[in-house]
Amino acid sequence: MDLELPMVFKYHVFACFTKRPAGHPRGSCMEKNAQPLWDRLQQKLDAKPLPDVNMSASGCLSFCRAGPLMVVYPEGIWYRPETSDDIDEIVQSHFIEGKPVERLIIIPQR
Ligand code: FES
Repeated sequence: MDLELPMVFKYHVFACFTKRPAGHPRGSCMEKNAQPLWDRLQQKLDAKPLPDVNMSASGCLSFCRAGPLMVVYPEGIWYRPETSDDIDEIVQSHFIEGKPVERLIIIPQR
């Protein structure tokens, strides 16, 4: 089947908001300080709206040990940001300039 569908967003970001209890064997992104990172991302997108970029809060993205994780479609690029500066760089370089931030890209493994 050949479907040609319009792009709804140029970039759609899924950020993991999963929180598990302390000591859980899988850990979680929220346990790894994801909240301030995703807060920063939302702030950046709110402060300078990019109409073709959407952020969605995601449940577990299945690679918990690698967290905090976010994945950007349509490329399917996985990022593991650690600081607010990392988030700022992703927004500026990837979402505004169209250049993924190679140093923050990971290939997640279980
Ligand atoms: S808890 Fe974030 S990837 Fe599983």
